[in-house]
Amino acid sequence: MSKRVRTAVFPVAGLGTRFLPATKAMPKEMLTVVDRPLIQYAVDEAREAGIEHFVFVTGRNKGVIEDHFDRQFELETTLETRGKNQALEELRKDLPSAGRTSFTRQQEPLGLGHAVWCARDIVGDNPFALLLPDMLFKGEPGVLKQMMDAYEERGGNVIAVEEVPESEISSYGVVARGDGPDSGFPITGMVEKPKREEAPSNLIISGRYILQPELFSLLADQPRGAGGEIQLTDAMQTLMHNQRFTGVKYRGQSFDCGSKIGFLTANVVYALERDDIRPGFVRELRKLDLEDQL
Ligand code: UTP
Repeated sequence: MSKRVRTAVFPVAGLGTRFLPATKAMPKEMLTVVDRPLIQYAVDEAREAGIEHFVFVTGRNKGVIEDHFDRQFELETTLETRGKNQALEELRKDLPSAGRTSFTRQQEPLGLGHAVWCARDIVGDNPFALLLPDMLFKGEPGVLKQMMDAYEERGGNVIAVEEVPESEISSYGVVARGDGPDSGFPITGMVEKPKREEAPSNLIISGRYILQPELFSLLADQPRGAGGEIQLTDAMQTLMHNQRFTGVKYRGQSFDCGSKIGFLTANVVYALERDDIRPGFVRELRKLDLEDQL
């Protein structure tokens, strides 16, 4: 039987240059979709999948993430005095239990692979989940839970994948697919940002992983790859020589909230789904007479 996955790593040390100036002094992982920060959605998804320990790889300007996952006594007291019990309840519900968060620092943003490597001492010799919080997934059950089901069956490493139009392929890590159902099929190869004609499929690696700890020693010696960054895909490619990789073409919808279009779309979709927001939001949208502009 495969070792249980109890720990999740959240890399939040990137510069978020696509979202400047919003991310000049604030991490992009604190951008809100309706009223919840992106990092909270990722933590909720991990919790639903059974994760017990939450490891954040932070960088400069990221102290606010640590504060977000801490109690705010002054705020709580004020809410209590004002009888805002529901808001108080919600805040408490979002918090991981005491002692179940860890924070480590990536002093320089040398790439995703390097950020993951910074979590090695905390994760230790255990399998772990990796969630990129700027990728927001709407799935039932959540995408990491769907991947855990594949992990229980097949063990090894599991990667969430999704289809993109051919014209977009060269911006992503792309996998080669072996035979098997969408819920868990062998990955037979992967390549970071391939030329369109060299891409092995239209399935891209989309921001959720279950990985084995042997990856850390590969990351330690990983030279810089595409964009001068230490690339996670390059280390996974080497790990593939002696470990199994499974792809899960997840059921659900993704929003790349590291890009402005993805972020704005996510806000519209999530707002329209909220019973408390939808009526007022639709009314305001109608007033804008958007037909002319769409
Ligand atoms: P991205 O490449 O989307 O983030 O990395 P970025 O570099 O911050 O964004 P842009 O392209 O400049 O706008 C995906 C995730 O990996 C983290 C980011 O914080 C994000 O959650 N990351 C990336 C790190 O933690 N460290 C890095 O060196 C790079």
